[in-house]
Amino acid sequence: MAEATQTLATLITSRRSVRQTQNTPLPMESIHEILEQAAYAPFHSEVEPWAVKIASTEQEKKYFFQCVFNSYERIGIFESYTDEKKEKVKESYREYFEGTPVSILVATDVFDHEKKDFESVGATCAFIQNVQLLCWEKNIGAVWRTNPYIFDPEFIKEMGFTSKQKIVGSLHLGYPQQVPKAKERRSLDQWVSRVHVGAE
Ligand SMILES: Cc1cc2nc3c(=O)[nH]c(=O)nc-3n(C[C@H](O)[C@H](O)[C@H](O)COP(=O)(O)O)c2cc1C
Repeated sequence: MAEATQTLATLITSRRSVRQTQNTPLPMESIHEILEQAAYAPFHSEVEPWAVKIASTEQEKKYFFQCVFNSYERIGIFESYTDEKKEKVKESYREYFEGTPVSILVATDVFDHEKKDFESVGATCAFIQNVQLLCWEKNIGAVWRTNPYIFDPEFIKEMGFTSKQKIVGSLHLGYPQQVPKAKERRSLDQWVSRVHVGAE
């Protein structure tokens, strides 16, 4: 786990997606500080495109879980499940959503314009990675998820976003219970090459 004194390179390379967290609450001042600092991500417009909804109280987490479950019912995720399997899955989701200290939904502005939408998602992804790294610096684990519910317009509305916003991911935060091993990255020669001068 990275220490606060470690370099940016160490933070970037040591950060892992943490899927199993302790249920110890996180200090909300730290979360607000992280979000404030993460907002120094680059963006290409006059307005920062990201917006965040936080679920950290028992009531907020219950609501978040219920909306996720309702969304999965609506979009047919459980269609092929037996009642027994559905109940089991429901309980594991409940455990995850209610046991995770802080969940964050990150949305970005939609302009219905190819270039602006591309830049909006790009900037918000930079923001999300800033959040992950700033969490890691404070020994807080994070995982960025893109589960099917984030694309469900009804869910987006229920979370309080507008029809001019789309969700880029959910982030689930907590002190790590288990940190996975790093997935090996490809070597540079597999994905870096020179421009092909004179390519036809
Ligand atoms: C856009 C995006 C979507 C992701 N969605 C999920 C997801 O839905 N579920 C999940 O467990 N991890 C998700 N991840 C995390 C990746 O699985 C993880 O970053 C990858 O395996 C590399 O591991 P590392 O982050 O520990 O280096 C996502 C990451 C990104 C960037």
